[in-house]
Amino acid sequence: MNRRALLTSLALAPVIAGCRRAAVAGPQPARLPPLKTITPGAFGTCVQLANLTDPGWLDLARTHVSQLTPEWEMKMEYILADGPDRLRLDRSDRIARFAADNGMALHGHTLIWYAQGQDVFSGLDNAAFDRAFDGYIATVAGRYRGKVRSWDVVNEPILDDGSGLRDCHWSRRYGQDGYIRRAFDQARIADPDAVLFLNEYNLEGVPAKGTQFLRLVERLLKSGCPLQGLGTQSHLWIDIPDGQIAAFMHELAQFGLPIHVSELDVSLRTDSPLDLRGLQERLSRQTARVAELAAAYMRLPAAQRFGFTTWGLRDTDSWYRRGDKDDGKDRPLPFDATGRPNPMAGALAAAFQR
Ligand code: XIL
Repeated sequence: MNRRALLTSLALAPVIAGCRRAAVAGPQPARLPPLKTITPGAFGTCVQLANLTDPGWLDLARTHVSQLTPEWEMKMEYILADGPDRLRLDRSDRIARFAADNGMALHGHTLIWYAQGQDVFSGLDNAAFDRAFDGYIATVAGRYRGKVRSWDVVNEPILDDGSGLRDCHWSRRYGQDGYIRRAFDQARIADPDAVLFLNEYNLEGVPAKGTQFLRLVERLLKSGCPLQGLGTQSHLWIDIPDGQIAAFMHELAQFGLPIHVSELDVSLRTDSPLDLRGLQERLSRQTARVAELAAAYMRLPAAQRFGFTTWGLRDTDSWYRRGDKDDGKDRPLPFDATGRPNPMAGALAAAFQR
């Protein structure tokens, strides 16, 4: 190929690539309405402090978002990183201020999680453990009283296979249901107005886990636990059998409590290295899962439609696009890296406007 032909092909390469991307990106919504105006309850996304100085993120968030969930800077791991006597609340304060300044609700995430706190709490005697547990919730939930709409008081208490509840440093001190009860009681004292949620993942995709969650909710409510909201994270995958998502949402609604789709994303990746399906087929399965979830959400009584949160806005904001998990191609969120609507956004808008 002579130099002129090479330069022409290089000049055209981005145009050709763009056409190919448009061709496989699937149907684009005609004009996407602001999602916060059509989503009952709230349309939310997770947020990190770095997003607040990212013009592309700010533009999308101010257009579509009415509620924020701190992705990790309101978690124990960040807050206690300098030890139990020097709580780091700087970043959660700035996120709370951004939400207030931009008319967005704030969903606190998360007070007590099996995955964090071991380093600070292990080695404490019972009296010190109790002071630290109750004190942490009183300090953090108390600080954001009047600033948060709601809290994920306890996150992910169920074993992945749904065979029971996790054992962790919290359950070893108070028992499996006991630590959950204590966390909710302390959160209620610290913030009498916030809606208090129990939050869990894979409830739609692993029926046994969904069943175990429903049993836990029933026990907690019968025991008088001030549990007021149910969070289903909805980190979905494209091959969840048709109807399974809707069936779980129907079961979840039985308690009459507000339901938060709290962390929606749908990775296009599957576990099978032999999965030869192309992008279009994967996007089609993805939008079918999202459409089923959003339609099920819309069938809830209005009082139970607390909010619908995606775990990020642009594909490149996703935790699936970080570190060694990133294959550079996954498209788990409503918008692409440039902020253009993905087919998922169209599926959400279609369901919310039906
Ligand atoms: C994840 C964040 O997205 C990551 O940035 C962080 O490193 C680990 O936590 N369920 C949850 C969220 O409740 O808090 C998790 O968020 C994702 C799974």
